[in-house]
Amino acid sequence: MSEGDSALRLEALEAWYGLARVLFGVDLALARGTVKVLLGRNGAGKTSTLKAVAGIMPRIAGRVLVDGRDVAGQAAHRIARVGVGLVPETRRIFRGLTVRENLEVGRRAASAGGGWDEARVFALFPALETLASRRGGQLSGGEQQMLAIGRTLMGNPWLVLLDEPAEGLAPLVVNQMAEAIRALKGAGTTVLLAEQNLAFAGRVADGAAVIERGRIVYDGPLAGLAGRADLAGPLAPG
Ligand SMILES: Nc1ncnc2c1ncn2[C@@H]1O[C@H](COP(=O)(O)OP(=O)(O)OP(=O)(O)O)[C@@H](O)[C@H]1O
Ligand SMILES: [Mg+2]
Repeated sequence: MSEGDSALRLEALEAWYGLARVLFGVDLALARGTVKVLLGRNGAGKTSTLKAVAGIMPRIAGRVLVDGRDVAGQAAHRIARVGVGLVPETRRIFRGLTVRENLEVGRRAASAGGGWDEARVFALFPALETLASRRGGQLSGGEQQMLAIGRTLMGNPWLVLLDEPAEGLAPLVVNQMAEAIRALKGAGTTVLLAEQNLAFAGRVADGAAVIERGRIVYDGPLAGLAGRADLAGPLAPG
């Protein structure tokens, strides 16, 4: 894959929290319109990788090519403006604002991934529509996750970074999450999904990368992990 074909390409990405280095040269490429899962155990560096792309790691080195342009070191709002949207693992919705108001906060002028409005978010997550006037703090975990994704989509990203969206959710809600990710892909959105759950990853991803202690130790088709107990073994089976 040449540089121009990659929606996202990480080259020798390093990252630090203070003096502690947590990424040690991450290389990763993601083709436009595909869903790639970044698999790894607790503390492996999944969130740090997504944060580095979104421009919210305290310190990074290396290259972060978004559509071929290096955005490493740029401010988060500038990276958002080129069409990168992060849905953080902490979900960070405004608990005192209603669902509708939370979505409104996320609104940003259309970029290449344009076309998102409240109605489209409700079409993606029908459960949210009936809750439009409910405050964020009164939502269930699954509803908060849907709202966090919806709010990011309101910024019209074409590249979405999803940090463990199914974590801690009931099976029925996990199904809705998987469906939503497939729908995003169907709409042409490129997705990088941080995940520990191999079964969930298998339902939505085209390809997989495995991160271990801040290094990529596998990058290829999901099927390639089947015979690799050394890589997939430590991950949650489902
Ligand atoms: N705010 C922070 N300050 C200092 N160290 C941190 C901070 N956040 C994470 N770390 C450390 O950075 C390393 C990578 O963490 P990261 O959050 O990227 O892992 P992760 O793969 O997302 O894990 P999890 O599955 O638990 O979300 C870990 O050693 C972790 O302890
Ligand atoms: Mg994490």
